[in-house]
Amino acid sequence: MKHEAIEKNLGLMIPLIIVAISFGGLVEIVPLFFDKNLTEPVDGLEPLSAMELEGRDIYIREGCHVCHSQMIRPFRWETERYGHYSVSGEHVYEHPFLWGSKRTGPDLARVGERYSDAWHRAHLYNPRDVVPESNMPAFPWLFEDTIDGSITGTKMSALRTVGVPYTDEDIAGAEQAVDGKLEIDAMIAYLQQLGTLLKHKR
Ligand code: HEC
Repeated sequence: MKHEAIEKNLGLMIPLIIVAISFGGLVEIVPLFFDKNLTEPVDGLEPLSAMELEGRDIYIREGCHVCHSQMIRPFRWETERYGHYSVSGEHVYEHPFLWGSKRTGPDLARVGERYSDAWHRAHLYNPRDVVPESNMPAFPWLFEDTIDGSITGTKMSALRTVGVPYTDEDIAGAEQAVDGKLEIDAMIAYLQQLGTLLKHKR
């Protein structure tokens, strides 16, 4: 039996396993890089503004992504609650992705425009003021700390090298757009645009 001969000979089995796995990987993974549905931005997608970009970095710094996913799965119980399921083209300018899967709190992929800025302010200052049963932490320092815009332009240039279409004007104006602004305003700017492009589609 040829198969038995392979199974009993490690020197042969190891290279053959490597060949099988590499082939499987090529067939499964490589086409993803060429599928336009997965690599092209959805219509109207813009890179984050300087304020939104700084807000996103604060979101990462504060660990919001540890409790909140940003990926609506294509199931009825998800789309009924959160809106249109997430599509890859909405996320092509994100480095790194914040999809996540841990949901201590609700998914935020389409939270943009769901609440007023005033609601977000109250909620981030002390979640229990607006949602009495909430166990989300309060983030009062966002209301005092200001943004240092000196490297915002550099962040945009770095993102441009990986394909985010920031213009020279975006980069030149970045520092001025954010410097000295309150962190809470950047955070709300970031939250209010999340998922709004496909928000009204079902
Ligand atoms: C320890 C887990 C935890 C962390 C960390 C956390 N949240 Fe939450 N978040 C929750 C929970 C639980 C809720 C649901 C109760 C509520 O609305 O407060 C929630 C609700 C929300 C909502 C309302 C969502 C909706 O659709 O009603 C927003 C917006 C939000 N969080 C933003 C943030 C931001 C921004 C950060 C980081 C600064 C953050 N959260 C950090 C647990 C967390």
